[in-house]
Amino acid sequence: MQRVLVLNGPNLGRLGSREPEVYGNVEYDDLVGRCAAWGAELGLEVDMRQTDDEAELVGWLHQATDDATPVVLNAAAFTHYSYALHDACAQLKAPLVEVHISNPGRREEFRHTNVIASVATGSISGFGVDSYALALRAVRALLAR
Ligand code: DQA
Repeated sequence: MQRVLVLNGPNLGRLGSREPEVYGNVEYDDLVGRCAAWGAELGLEVDMRQTDDEAELVGWLHQATDDATPVVLNAAAFTHYSYALHDACAQLKAPLVEVHISNPGRREEFRHTNVIASVATGSISGFGVDSYALALRAVRALLAR
């Protein structure tokens, strides 16, 4: 099965209790299970990880580059200011699908700055946790090209 890395940045481990009016009620562990199931339907083996640590995310992206593994990335707040993540994403060899649960474009001004989109193959945001299902579908389609 084709492996795909689903990487999640800061505060996403707190899904379910974190601002449910913005991010919904699905807990992170539940989302891990859903992503595994969505991936399996598409013939994708999902390796899902979360960290609050920018350096750890950069390390995982380097690994994905070296292995030419496709990536779904919710960089969370790092989306808006991390040039280190931008530079790590720029090196990826396989498709990168950027994902967000909320639609940052409809939110506070600081969320309108995005340093990941310009190095992503494409971006999906605003569909709640279903954004991940759509992102995995996008990875499948990109790999079939
Ligand atoms: C988010 C949107 C970001 O602005 C925010 O910092 C997050 C989550 C989302 O999935 O909607 O932590 O990436």
